[in-house]
Amino acid sequence: MCGIVGYIGCSEAAPVLLKGLKNLEYRGYDSVGMATVSDSLKVFRGVGKIEKATENLDLRTLQGRVGIGHTRWATHGDVSEKNAHPHLDCKKRIAIVHNGIIENYKDLRDRLVEKGHEFKSNTDSEVIAHLIEDNMDDAMSFEEACITSFKELDGSYAVLAVLRDDQKIVAARKDSPLVIGLGEGELYFASDVSALIEWTKDVVYLQNHDVVVATAEGDMSFYNLIEEQEVKRRRDTVGWDAEQARKGEFEHFMLKEISEQAETVSRAILQDDEVIERIIDEVRRAKGVFFVGCGSSYHACLAGSYLFSKVAGVHVNLVLASEFENYEHFLTDETLVFAVSQSGETADVLDAVKAAKRRGSKVIAVTNVVGSSLMRAGDMMLLMNSGPEICVLSTKTYTSQVVLMAFLAYALAGKRDDCTKSIRNLYMDIFNLTSKTMREHLKGLAALLVSSEHIFMIGRGLQYATALEAALKVKEVSYIHTEAFAGGELKHGPLALIERGTPVFIFVGRNNREKVLSNAHEVKARGGVLIGISEQDEEPFDMWIKVPECGNFNPIIQAIPMQVLAYELAVQRGLDPDKPRNLAKCVTVL
Ligand code: F6R
Repeated sequence: MCGIVGYIGCSEAAPVLLKGLKNLEYRGYDSVGMATVSDSLKVFRGVGKIEKATENLDLRTLQGRVGIGHTRWATHGDVSEKNAHPHLDCKKRIAIVHNGIIENYKDLRDRLVEKGHEFKSNTDSEVIAHLIEDNMDDAMSFEEACITSFKELDGSYAVLAVLRDDQKIVAARKDSPLVIGLGEGELYFASDVSALIEWTKDVVYLQNHDVVVATAEGDMSFYNLIEEQEVKRRRDTVGWDAEQARKGEFEHFMLKEISEQAETVSRAILQDDEVIERIIDEVRRAKGVFFVGCGSSYHACLAGSYLFSKVAGVHVNLVLASEFENYEHFLTDETLVFAVSQSGETADVLDAVKAAKRRGSKVIAVTNVVGSSLMRAGDMMLLMNSGPEICVLSTKTYTSQVVLMAFLAYALAGKRDDCTKSIRNLYMDIFNLTSKTMREHLKGLAALLVSSEHIFMIGRGLQYATALEAALKVKEVSYIHTEAFAGGELKHGPLALIERGTPVFIFVGRNNREKVLSNAHEVKARGGVLIGISEQDEEPFDMWIKVPECGNFNPIIQAIPMQVLAYELAVQRGLDPDKPRNLAKCVTVL
């Protein structure tokens, strides 16, 4: 989704904003803009990725030690300069940047147009600037006008607002993330901490409905729109460091993050014993357990639901977060909901959590981001401990999610030590799967597949979850149409898609080898080209990716070469694997 940054302090704002925006570009990237405050309001807007949009920008034209910036991922209004943020009021005194969606913008806009306001863009966000202006016309101060305006907004927002003649930033959040970095006499604002950890690790996470007024002296006062009073907010320290959010020697974040998995998988099991015990007690006590997530997180939930069943004999209802409302009537105060989200900001997941809370159900937040909305909304939480994931695609956080699910399943079965041992044993296997030799092998395979129009993937049981995840990785980064099917479903329809030369990946686990190989033969008989992912080369395979057999931990081991393959396909097709078209890391709209 969109990303916002702000700076107020003793340095020029524009270079800080530009750096912050580059750090946030993974959230959305169809246009970019900045506004700084000096003797006048200086504004820049450009279309495209930041590098391109700002290539001719002279930062000296954006003077001022107060500034706000925005990287956009279009929701309302097409991708154009006029729709890029910041948005201004009629008199060009107020500039705002906004992440989220203003649901009542049409009503507000109609009312303001009637009063003579002129709108320049097709966005929902512009209404905020005019609303503040309108309230200031009613003799309110800038801060009062902001507070009054924010109270009128329905929907979600993280907003930064500046005024031409004022060395201040007014910020607010509701259901969209916003964090403040505390420097020496300077303050940084950003949609997430990865944008500002190169300047400071001391932060304040704004809570829902908070408004903050920040001055050039580094002072801040907090006001909560619901409590209707000044509030105090705690200072936190971020556990991540700036190095983790840099590419280092890697060409892309995707490859860096894939390569970190020997470490991140081991880190995922470093959990507080007491917390695990409490969660397990909750699972045992619950009358109904739900796993809820989107995209890759949902696939991790699927693997998790099989593991809960196989290892612990516990039944779990698996639901896509965006479909969760259809099950709301099953929820009671005895239901336990695991909400799984890397970012902890996915709107569909947060919406599901709200539904669970309405029914009095308990929520376990499983996330990678400390201070995220999900973490705050959960009754208990489990952290993935993966470090910042910058590439839009989930790689290391997917495997960490699967590890966490496996860890809980084993703990429920009283076999936590077995899980710890197995995860430790994966270290060398993961190291080998992310080695240069493996990458070269997969580069060769990618070269054979690079012009494919369709790719299919099949697996059974835990390998079905991996097939779904692998297909998502390949399609979203290479734009090759890739679909996954449960092996047993092939004959119920998908087999019709197989033609001579159609590439089909077969994920084999020792426990269902015969069955999935019989599916492989069905494909082979129709001319499909088979690529096996398994411990041994099998008779029908045309090509083979060798992976060790790891039983219940196959979803981790088998996903990794597919992440590398997806990466190689994107690179060979001349695409940027870190920023696939139309996608954003953090999906904060429903
Ligand atoms: C795929 C991918 C997405 C996310 C999904 C949920 O590579 O990254 O499918 O998994 O948008 O995101 P989180 O886990 O942040 O809720």
